[in-house]
Amino acid sequence: LITVREIYRNREQYLNQEVTVGGWVRSIRDSKTFGFLVLHDGTFFETLQVVFADQLENFADICKLNVGAAVIVKGTLVPTPEAKQPFEIQAASVEVEGTSAPDYPLQKKRHSVEFLRTISHLRPRTNMFQATFRVRSLAAYAIHKFFQERDFVYVHTPLITGSDCEGAGEMFQVTTLDLKNVPMTEDGKVDYTQDFFGKSTNLTVSGQLNAETFAQAFRNVYTFGPTFRAENSNTARHAAEFWMIEPEIAFADLKDDMVLAESMLKYVIRYVMENAPEEMAFFNNFVDKGLIDRLNSVVSADFGHVTYTEAIEILEKNNDNFDYKVSWGCDLQTEHERYLTEQIFKKPVFVTDYPKEIKAFYMKMNEDGKTVAAMDCLVPGIGEIIGGSQREDDYDKLLARMNELRMKEEDYKFYLDLRKYGSTRHAGFGLGFERCVMYLTGVANIRDAIPFPRTVGNCEL
Ligand code: 4AD
Ligand code: MG
Repeated sequence: LITVREIYRNREQYLNQEVTVGGWVRSIRDSKTFGFLVLHDGTFFETLQVVFADQLENFADICKLNVGAAVIVKGTLVPTPEAKQPFEIQAASVEVEGTSAPDYPLQKKRHSVEFLRTISHLRPRTNMFQATFRVRSLAAYAIHKFFQERDFVYVHTPLITGSDCEGAGEMFQVTTLDLKNVPMTEDGKVDYTQDFFGKSTNLTVSGQLNAETFAQAFRNVYTFGPTFRAENSNTARHAAEFWMIEPEIAFADLKDDMVLAESMLKYVIRYVMENAPEEMAFFNNFVDKGLIDRLNSVVSADFGHVTYTEAIEILEKNNDNFDYKVSWGCDLQTEHERYLTEQIFKKPVFVTDYPKEIKAFYMKMNEDGKTVAAMDCLVPGIGEIIGGSQREDDYDKLLARMNELRMKEEDYKFYLDLRKYGSTRHAGFGLGFERCVMYLTGVANIRDAIPFPRTVGNCEL
């Protein structure tokens, strides 16, 4: 079988030649002596029209096919200068690989994304999700390519862990204990020594702590894998299972971290625009009219920079616009993040130096004793897409902060060890991959940026 992608990309080679393609029927109509079917083979965004005539011995069977049927078509590729499509196949044979029942839910009309979420096993066949998941695949490749070209080592961090990197307690527990008969200790707590790992474990919320151990051995590393958060927030940008890219760089500070984040995002945008022009044009036409212009301007300008304290000053002046009023010390909500990046900067912006109270234990304390060397990258349409920081590399300061937060020292001995044996300045960040896909495509809901979304109350398929 030849792919439709190959035919479109190297059309001169195939015109007036015999080709064989396999795909699914997007639409079909017939008159008495001939018919048309539109074929989509999944390898390319565009479809291929097939003309079939009553000379074919199974003409009647072909006419009976429903949308969604799988067929193999052999025929001649002929140019159609007047038609919308540049060419079509005149079929010498149409072999039916698998028929489709008449109740096939994907008919020619445009379906809402809400409806398509209820059939996540079929939605990858639609234009919308063909485009989204090809861009997602290319973006994943671009991210690996970006880091590999820069000699970063890809490290596979574990999914089951005993630690809570972000300290937010939003973890899915992993246990083999019998929930109907949980073993208890004498002081009335669950006895995790009897659990599979001999201690309490959970799905990871971030690979960072493990990645740091590799950064202190390889210098520059990155992770790219699933992470899990039991956040009870039912929003368009939170998923319970999402993928995160987490580079970690040694001998580097917060500035280096932001330079890396900015060049990575720009690299991915360029890669996707170059390698998925049909898909990007589709998003630009049907999802987000300004998308391509906006992405073009993002890659050609520097990102903005503002400290948290400056950002609060800007936002306080505009508190009338917000449901949740800001003041120094509060965490930024999506509405504030979007206001900063959409109304004030009108481009991606790094917010730095947040109050230590609203950030994780591992971030490096600034000299003011109040803020930490953190950075969030905010983008229009979404808000936070990246969260990162320079890490506390001083043993005593880190330990003091852990004690303040009443963290169990023995659980983080390995992490403290890194500060004991050849500690270096180091920094890293996490890019939420689904939010990155949303940013690249204009897709507005995270449920439509991941193939099989897991959100509060929803774990279909
Ligand atoms: O800001 P976060 O919590 O940072 C970390 O996890 C650090 N350990 C990263 C690091 O420094 N290595 O999460 C990073 C990013 C966010 O900016 C967001 O894009 C994404 O992960 N993210 C989510 N995406 C979808 N659903 C959720 N529930 C998310 N929570 C975070
Ligand atoms: Mg964050």
